[in-house]
Amino acid sequence: MKLFIDSADIDEIREYAGSGFLDGVTTNPSLAAKTGRDYVEVLKEITGIVKGSVSAEVLATDHDGMMAQGRRVAKIASNITVKVPLTWDGLKACRGLRAEGIAVNVTLCFSPVQAMMAAKAGATYISPFIGRVDDCGEDGVGLIRDIRTVYDNYGFTTEILAASIRSVSHVRESALAGADVATIPASIFKLLLNHPLTDKGLAAFLADAKKAGVEIRGT
Ligand code: G3P
Repeated sequence: MKLFIDSADIDEIREYAGSGFLDGVTTNPSLAAKTGRDYVEVLKEITGIVKGSVSAEVLATDHDGMMAQGRRVAKIASNITVKVPLTWDGLKACRGLRAEGIAVNVTLCFSPVQAMMAAKAGATYISPFIGRVDDCGEDGVGLIRDIRTVYDNYGFTTEILAASIRSVSHVRESALAGADVATIPASIFKLLLNHPLTDKGLAAFLADAKKAGVEIRGT
């Protein structure tokens, strides 16, 4: 599974890019607003740090506006993926941008039928918001599972990008459900390797070695 960071914060992105585990970045208007900076400038900087897909969301809601903004942000760098909302105009823009060779991430997906429609519009990625589905008392990971089934039934190649991830369990469950990508906030990214038994085991190994004077010498 590919791992993206869900962030527009340059320091966070730089930190995880340096770990070698970052396959891409997703941003959205809310994350861009948090930076207090010009969105295009931020996107330029991110594409200079990360080689993989960098999602840049349009702000227009009509087809022509989305096409214009999509083309504008796609010019920033070859690894920009244009993010459009899952609306009739959004899917029309998805089809249009894909015809121009631009990668598209269809966002705000909350049902398998919506995901099927995005795939039929040629989306590169579909972003089901699993945390927000859970917030409504429904089953976010179940949504990933259902989309996987629909895509596999019909051979759709759109990649399932699990978004609105709120926990390490969401990452585990998305991987088990067959998501192609998980986009993870930095606060969860840093927890991916945590396990109390790893810490306990390492402390015991080191204590045993110290007690017995075990060392590694030479070159
Ligand atoms: O990038 C979209 C998505 O990941 C938003 O997550 O936590 O605001 O529901 P959240």
